[in-house]
Amino acid sequence: MAKGDNIIRLVNMGKAFHTSSGDVVALDDINLDIKEGSIQGIIGLSGAGKSTLVRCINYLEIPTSGKVIFEGKSLGDLSDKEVREARRNMGMIFQQFNLLDQRNLLNNVTFPLEIAGVDKKQARERAMELLKMVGLEERVKNYPAQLSGGQKQRVAIARALATNPKVLLCDEATSALDPKTTTQILDLLKKINEEMGVTVIVITHQMSVIEAICDSVAIIDHSHIAESGPVSEVFNNPKTEIGRRLILGDGDADSARPVIFGEGGNKKIRIVFDGHSAHQPIISDMTLSCKIPVNILFANTKEVEGKAVGQMIIELPDKEEDADKIKQYLRTNDIIFEEVD
Ligand SMILES: Nc1ncnc2c1ncn2[C@@H]1O[C@H](COP(=O)(O)OP(=O)(O)OP(=O)(O)O)[C@@H](O)[C@H]1O
Ligand SMILES: [Mg+2]
Repeated sequence: MAKGDNIIRLVNMGKAFHTSSGDVVALDDINLDIKEGSIQGIIGLSGAGKSTLVRCINYLEIPTSGKVIFEGKSLGDLSDKEVREARRNMGMIFQQFNLLDQRNLLNNVTFPLEIAGVDKKQARERAMELLKMVGLEERVKNYPAQLSGGQKQRVAIARALATNPKVLLCDEATSALDPKTTTQILDLLKKINEEMGVTVIVITHQMSVIEAICDSVAIIDHSHIAESGPVSEVFNNPKTEIGRRLILGDGDADSARPVIFGEGGNKKIRIVFDGHSAHQPIISDMTLSCKIPVNILFANTKEVEGKAVGQMIIELPDKEEDADKIKQYLRTNDIIFEEVD
């Protein structure tokens, strides 16, 4: 299988749980192709079906309809032994790390190798190599309780990679970590993707995680994929309500009306950044070029690959000719805006 082929394909996949109070449909008609060597993000609100999706990918949960195709083979057609082998090719990490408290770091990482029947010496060597890769070679004799959250997640990553999987499934792997540690773990995932060629699937409810490392994103909402595609496309032009909500926050400027419009009678304009420009230069260039300071009343913009996406509301100056100058500047520079009142 070459880089760029689909390593995983979900085809009309569904999952319903049968409970005493009736069926719960966790996933319905999921179609998603994940490219070998990519970092695929899956984002959605709590209860959307993200964890179920990731557990169906490695057949920890068996879908109730449709297929999971891994490296061209439908997991549903494989024997139990073959499914176990496929699963060994998909490492997994979790929000709560799930380390074995009674084992030191070295023995946490050798654990999956023991299960796979790898020779002890070889298992130790592989574990040492991985613990070095995640920067914990000096802590191998420590126990999980002696580590910080970020360090625990590094051990979990080393353990997940022990059997040399082709895919790493990450279910909210940074949700229990502070922002700085999150960045370090995301950098590590990126490095694993680039240097080891591991396909990484990142489940998260945080847009910032998707922005930081993913190539593609699927937005999952109420058991369905609402939209999916390359991160830059989805971010620049979210097509669904949930997409706009997740990407722009509560991007509807109307909700900010009481704060924005509470004072002053000046006209306002809403500037829309559609991913073609960087917003910092626009506002500062405009101020310099027009020699008119503007008042930014509301901004909800994000940088995606160095380009701005989102919207900003600025207050136009009192003097009509100054206001016209600003509007003229925006038009000349192909910046989308509309007057609001
Ligand atoms: N074993 C189960 N039995 C019954 N219902 C389940 C089971 N697992 C998940 N569900 C239900 O399926 C839906 C999706 O749950 P899932 O855990 O996949 O959501 P999630 O997107 O991961 O949420 P969160 O962000 O809170 O982790 C929920 O309604 C949940 O209650
Ligand atoms: Mg979950």
